[in-house]
Amino acid sequence: MAKTNASRRDFIKLLGAASATMIQPDAAWPVAGWAKSDALHFTADPFSLGVASGDPWPDGVVLWTRLAPDPLVGGGMPERDVPVKWEVASDERMQSVVARGTATASPRRGHAVHVEVGGLLPARWYWYRFTVDAGSSPVGRTRTAPALSARNDRMNLAFASCQHFETGYFTAYRHLAAEDLDLVLHLGDYIYENGPADGRLRRHNTPEVKTLADYRNRYALYKSDPLLKQAHASFPWAAVWDDHEVDNNYAGLISEDNVPRAEFAGRRAAAYQAYYEHLPLRRSVLRGGGVEIYRRLDFGSLSAVYLLDTRQYRTDQPCGDGNKPVCPEALSPKATILGDRQERWLLGQLGQSRARWNVMAQQVMMAQVDSLAGPGQQLSMDKWNGYLVERKRLLESLRAHGPSNPVVLTGDIHSNWVADLKPDFESETSPVVATEFVGTSITTGGDGSDVRPTTAAVLSENPHVKFFNGQRGYVRCSLTPERWQTDYRVIASVTQPDAPVNTIASFIVENSRPGARRA
Ligand SMILES: [Fe+2]
Repeated sequence: MAKTNASRRDFIKLLGAASATMIQPDAAWPVAGWAKSDALHFTADPFSLGVASGDPWPDGVVLWTRLAPDPLVGGGMPERDVPVKWEVASDERMQSVVARGTATASPRRGHAVHVEVGGLLPARWYWYRFTVDAGSSPVGRTRTAPALSARNDRMNLAFASCQHFETGYFTAYRHLAAEDLDLVLHLGDYIYENGPADGRLRRHNTPEVKTLADYRNRYALYKSDPLLKQAHASFPWAAVWDDHEVDNNYAGLISEDNVPRAEFAGRRAAAYQAYYEHLPLRRSVLRGGGVEIYRRLDFGSLSAVYLLDTRQYRTDQPCGDGNKPVCPEALSPKATILGDRQERWLLGQLGQSRARWNVMAQQVMMAQVDSLAGPGQQLSMDKWNGYLVERKRLLESLRAHGPSNPVVLTGDIHSNWVADLKPDFESETSPVVATEFVGTSITTGGDGSDVRPTTAAVLSENPHVKFFNGQRGYVRCSLTPERWQTDYRVIASVTQPDAPVNTIASFIVENSRPGARRA
């Protein structure tokens, strides 16, 4: 693949400056959104899905766009490679251009463009745009990571998850875009795969998605949202998928409806490809013949972020999934949520890390939550609760190897939680080894409510759980060498695109003192 790209680049170089403006049309072009003429000609905006950047490193970042003049029905592009010029500037008016080049938008990748820009300065804001003959994209803003040796004393990030298009407006992203952030983490459910449901605010564009073409159209629907586009254009993002990017509650190659593995493997591969095509990921995630998204990002001496994948390599949810008493399967040493390879990688990384804050950004809640009041237990088997031996091994390893300040960030459950993490949640004397912040959904579940009828019982049943809130929004985190602060930013209503945001609770973790306390 790399070879093909290189030769394509050489070809574009040979064409020289004319390549972006004098592309010869192919007589066989299909073509919504296209007119046949001597030059490549768009009759609709090819940058309808906006721009994005992500996975920053000290001298660069991934820039993303996807050419899609007819976004909801296949994109509207011809079956051929199209060169796309890109520029990076040190000013928002794009006058001081510091890097530029030409990338290839290929039909093999849905005409998505991923540019890995290098040679930039660390910890700087940059602006970027793409250009085809029809014109330029909107200008996006991004930021490089601090130098690895930097003694950086501040980092601001936000994390978000679960943006069901039908159940609300992406109001939260309007407010997120106005924050002062170095990075946005997206922890999954970037799309939902379901068909349309009646009586909702907005509507999915196709029945349940299963093919590459369907997934592309679904991403296009979500990415057509102006507030999501605004949030992408404002900061670099680092994203990991959860289940709905493929199929609700799948585990490895086991689908929600238990279709044959070979059949589901094809669907999953299509879903993973579409995810890659629509997010600003590095090419290095294309490995092992598929897409592997677990990875580490470094932000100077202050933090290392481990992005995890708790879907692709896990064994089936034990005890028949759902909310259940613990059955032998959940206690099996063979049950895994990370898979052997990812677990070894994570433990190895954590063991060697010199970062002040070690941030595990992942999908499903790690803390135990017993939802049965009184004697007996009921645990949600889709979460780390279903993989008890592995959870204990990870939490014991945090205690034994002591990576500085482990913090777990989580999505999935459409609610805000704060929890202390302990190797043994049943034991009052088991030490707190890490802190978990679970962030609510952008929209999924509708407006929600601060408390639920069960909240008081859940909090008293699980003393390591410090906070619950069931509204929509995102989570903002401010890091310094001495202190981590988490602010739960909630919006009153997802049916109003201009609803205000407010901070409903703030928590602090002090350096070297795992566990959260109210700010
Ligand atoms: Fe979700």
